[in-house]
Amino acid sequence: MINVAVLGYGTVGSGVVEVIETNKKDIERKIGASIEVKYILDLRDFPGDPYESKVIHDYDQIINDPDISIVCETMGGLEPAYTFTQKALSKGISVCTSNKELVAAHGPELIHLAQSNKCNYMFEASVGGGIPIIRPMNSALTAEHIDSVMGILNGTTNYILTRMDEDGADFADALKEAQDLGYAEKDPTADVEGYDISRKIAILSSLVCGHYVNYEDIYTEGITRITADDIKYARKMGKTIKLLAISSENEDGYFAMVAPFLVGREHPLYMVREAFNAIFIHGNTLDDTMYYGRGAGKLPTASAVVADVVDCARHIGKCITILWDDEKVQLTDADKYKCSYFVRVSADNRDKAEAAFEITDTVDAGVDGEFAFVTEVMDNTAFEAAAVKCGGVITRIRMI
Ligand code: HSE
Repeated sequence: MINVAVLGYGTVGSGVVEVIETNKKDIERKIGASIEVKYILDLRDFPGDPYESKVIHDYDQIINDPDISIVCETMGGLEPAYTFTQKALSKGISVCTSNKELVAAHGPELIHLAQSNKCNYMFEASVGGGIPIIRPMNSALTAEHIDSVMGILNGTTNYILTRMDEDGADFADALKEAQDLGYAEKDPTADVEGYDISRKIAILSSLVCGHYVNYEDIYTEGITRITADDIKYARKMGKTIKLLAISSENEDGYFAMVAPFLVGREHPLYMVREAFNAIFIHGNTLDDTMYYGRGAGKLPTASAVVADVVDCARHIGKCITILWDDEKVQLTDADKYKCSYFVRVSADNRDKAEAAFEITDTVDAGVDGEFAFVTEVMDNTAFEAAAVKCGGVITRIRMI
């Protein structure tokens, strides 16, 4: 019998209980043993909930119960999740988590702690919601030298940008809808300012190189400055705006960035709509491979947590290999990242813009008083210098 405790009975935690109960027979067949959610830890009580009797408020009851072999940490945030995870792993109890904040901050240390105690720290649900991406990185893609990862890794922002693009919705209404659907973090700043996605690309980048990429070192721009006029221009160009996380290897090391990009119809990420996520990986011998699915939401995320539970249950007393040490990776300078830019300037500055930039195309989306254009491929340092020369820009969006 595998006894599980769920920490946090919120959106994902209640989803974990639901997935285990709904698919119990399948899961038990795959584990080769029966499975039971023995405890649900939460500060609150849940009168009338079918699992009300399993709700407890004292964590020590869980880690002092020798029957518990796996804990699902679905609390989110750094504390008390960090302390609870350390306590469980120190006792040889495996932890399966959806908490990207904790994984991005303390992943290598917690993996090491698990390995020292012959148990596992698993975090499939921390990136891409229900998309299996951590497991492919650790097993299916091990023959590859991965040189780039690019993805739509936040369901909330992709949902907002889809609503703005397809329905002309304004930002606030689309955000409210995403929150109502359970996609957004408690504080949506983490989604819309790109912090959530920067943690996810930090985790993926770390797994690519096997060392520690600190999300705080990643150049990050969110979507709060994207306007209805930007969307009009994008549509005019036959493109859409996506918040992308990119990570690649170059001759000087590794580079990572989070920013809104204009994506053309020909790119596979163009068709990733609503709260779906996709991760596009390039390996030196495999070439391109892409992973697509629900990147947020209760049951898809919970399904990924429970898949980790199954893996842990199959490896009681054994460690699953995850190569990620705490050697810090120095990322290369984001100012050197080269791309074309879409730029909007005041019509009064057209002459200056034409003198400052190498313009490859102009765009007329019917917005009065503006001149809009596409630049040659240039780095950010060159872009900023040219922007000053032309008297400042209304907005600029990178293009892939
Ligand atoms: N707030 C996150 C998102 C949840 O919207 O993608 C899944 O990590």
